[in-house]
Amino acid sequence: MGDQRAIGIFDSGLGGLTVVKEIVKLLPQEDIVYFGDTGRVPYGTRSRETICKYAREDERFLLQKDVKLIVAACGTVSSVAVDAAEGLPVPFVEVVSHSVSAAVKATKNKKIGVLGTAATIRSGAHRRQILEQLPDATVVENSATLFVPLVEEGWFSADDPVVLETVRRYLQPMIDAQVDTVILGCTHFPVLSEAIHRVMGEAVTLINMGTATALAVVERLAKFGLATDRKETGIHRFYVSDKAASFRKIASVLLGEDLCDGRVEQVDINGI
Ligand code: DGL
Repeated sequence: MGDQRAIGIFDSGLGGLTVVKEIVKLLPQEDIVYFGDTGRVPYGTRSRETICKYAREDERFLLQKDVKLIVAACGTVSSVAVDAAEGLPVPFVEVVSHSVSAAVKATKNKKIGVLGTAATIRSGAHRRQILEQLPDATVVENSATLFVPLVEEGWFSADDPVVLETVRRYLQPMIDAQVDTVILGCTHFPVLSEAIHRVMGEAVTLINMGTATALAVVERLAKFGLATDRKETGIHRFYVSDKAASFRKIASVLLGEDLCDGRVEQVDINGI
């Protein structure tokens, strides 16, 4: 018998939608409850204590929605709040480890770039895990702090000179080091893939954490017998802590799905 409860997914804002998109491709029948903490975005410039506290609150909100599995679709939470899964009554999937394995598999010259938020890069999570799997790898890290507000603002066109110049500034050290693979270590960043390719060339492999994570979700649902057995397409519901209208507009573009039908609700998770 299938488990018809929804998969719970959270991020600080819009970024986690890049993970939602990949999960929907592999699991179109599953219901999804998404929480974007748009009232407190960005997480990546905050302290470890604050990030951990926010992650716990996001999880509690999703648990109230009776989800069967939680995905931290946020590179910052996955890197910094390493105990985010502790005590959870449902399985938990983070986004870092799966993307590191994909990068290690993809690189040919063993030069890997890692782009993330300031908190993610400070944590060294990707570097540590890459070197565990590939001890002679060269890892070039950079925190691309301005990418998050660009995406939240809906500025991600590869034809926009502001976008291209911002991307060039953050990517130049990786171009200089001749990395052949870049981990987009923040879930907001795949939205800028086209601009990044424009700046770095088509030959570089960009690792979208959503792709590797979606496979991990499939595997985890199977392992715990949690997959739905429904045949029809799942229902996707979205909750945000602020600015529902702008979320709705940009999310519709990112997901290629019209969300202007009451599926985005603003909620207050303070003191949850
Ligand atoms: N999308 C998030 C991440 O993957 C967080 C960006 C932010 O809130 O700073 O890191």
